[in-house]
Amino acid sequence: MNIVILGAPGAGKGTQADIIMEKLHLVHVATGDLFRQALAKETPLGLQAKSYMEKGLLVPDKVTINMVLERIAQPDCISGCLFDGFPRNLGQAKALDKALGEQGKAIDKAVYVMVPDEELVRRLSGRWICRSCQTPYHMVSSPPREPGKCDKCGGELYQRSDDNEKTVRERLKVFFAETVPIINYYKKQDKLAEIDGNQDISRVAKKMVEVLQAIK
Ligand code: AP5
Ligand code: MG
Ligand code: ZN
Repeated sequence: MNIVILGAPGAGKGTQADIIMEKLHLVHVATGDLFRQALAKETPLGLQAKSYMEKGLLVPDKVTINMVLERIAQPDCISGCLFDGFPRNLGQAKALDKALGEQGKAIDKAVYVMVPDEELVRRLSGRWICRSCQTPYHMVSSPPREPGKCDKCGGELYQRSDDNEKTVRERLKVFFAETVPIINYYKKQDKLAEIDGNQDISRVAKKMVEVLQAIK
């Protein structure tokens, strides 16, 4: 099974992916996480992505698509991936379809998690993520058991530098201009499911599992 989670910055893609991957035994492929890990290690890929991420702009397709193709060629991806933050424009969506097609696979479902803008801003301004495993927390809606420390791995929590107000505004603009068109792309292929993301984390997850189990 190969699934795409679509949603604006702060919609809860990473939060839901963490829950769903365990339930459905899928590999979580999150391009933002891959770029942040590369940046933390100061690899050429990370340094290439840095200036775009700081501005809230998309990293060029060539760089992003190559990174994803390398990732999905790894053996753990054989039984399926949960794509988070990718594809983010039509070029990426088509490249992903082509690559999966060459392996005799396809995207089974694209789930669009819908959340109003003011809630997105509230979520991003209170978000802390783990420096080691990237698990997202929120100071109000999903705080860690121990302040500043990841429940899963004990890693240090920090606030993403692109979660400041100016960059969040830019990321939202980019989402509406570049990513929203691919919602229609999956709709035309009859692969789109829309979920109300403006409810409790566990309710969103329940709905998502229902949608995904229905395609098995
Ligand atoms: P990326 O890391 O993908 O960021 P994003 O798309 O902006 O999304 P976020 O990670 O901010 O939000 P999320 O939906 O995962 O929300 P989360 O679960 O954390 O990309 C970052 C940058 O990398 C891009 O700007 C770009 O530069 C580059 N990039 C990445 N992919 C790329 C691509 N394909 N092409 C080119 N460039 C790319 O939740 C948010 C907060 O809300 C958390 O605090 C969480 O605890 C809380 N929360 C979650 N769900 C709920 C709920 N139901 N109720 C209450 N609170 C909730
Ligand atoms: Mg995320
Ligand atoms: Zn962690």
